[in-house]
Amino acid sequence: MPQPTVTVHDKTFELFIAEEEIQKKVEELGSSLSQNLKDTKPLFIGILNGAFMFASDLMKAVNIPAEITFMKVTSYQGMETTGQTKELIGLNDSVKGRDIVVVEDIVDTGITMESIVDQLKNLGAKSIEVASLLLKPDCLQRDVEVKYTGFEIPEKFVVGYGLDYDGLGRNLKDIYQLKHE
Ligand code: IMP
Repeated sequence: MPQPTVTVHDKTFELFIAEEEIQKKVEELGSSLSQNLKDTKPLFIGILNGAFMFASDLMKAVNIPAEITFMKVTSYQGMETTGQTKELIGLNDSVKGRDIVVVEDIVDTGITMESIVDQLKNLGAKSIEVASLLLKPDCLQRDVEVKYTGFEIPEKFVVGYGLDYDGLGRNLKDIYQLKHE
C-alpha cells in the first residue's frame, strides 16, 4: 500500500495517482501506440530527466518493433527575446524521415513541448506524436496536440514516478499532489 502522504524537502504531498492506476494507464497507452504505429518502426524520444520512468514502462507495453533514445531540453539563454526556445541536448539519433513519438512526463504550459516539436520538424521528422503521462489542460498556453495522454490533472504541483520537486521525489512509485495546509 502506498503511503497516504510524503514529505519532499519542506512540503507535504498527498497520494494522487497510485502505482496500480498508473501501470494500467501505461498498458493502455502502449496498446494504442502499438496498434497505431505498427509497420512504422517508430523512434521514441524520452525527455530527461522526468520521463525516464514513464518511458521505461511505456516501452515494455509496446509490442511492435520500435527504437528508443533520450534527450534533455534546457532553457536556451540566447538572443531570443522570448527566452522560450529550448535547446535539445544529446540527440544522437537521426530523426530525418522517422516517425517520432516524444515521451514526456507532463505537459504544463506546453512551451517546452512546442519547442521540441518545432525543432524535430526542422530536423526532418516524417511525423511527430506526443505521449505525455500527465497534462494540465488549464495551464496550456500553446497549441500542442498531446495525442496520447495518461491523465488530465488540475493545476496543482505533483511529484513522483519521475517527477521531482527540486531534485527529489522522482523515485516514488506513485504520484503525489501538493497538499494545501
Ligand atoms: P511546460 O513547458 O510548462 O509545459 O513545462 C513542462 C516541464 O515542467 C515538465 O517537463 C516538468 O519538468 C515541469 N513541470 C511542470 N509541472 C510540473 C509538476 O507539477 N511537477 C513537476 N514538474 C513539473
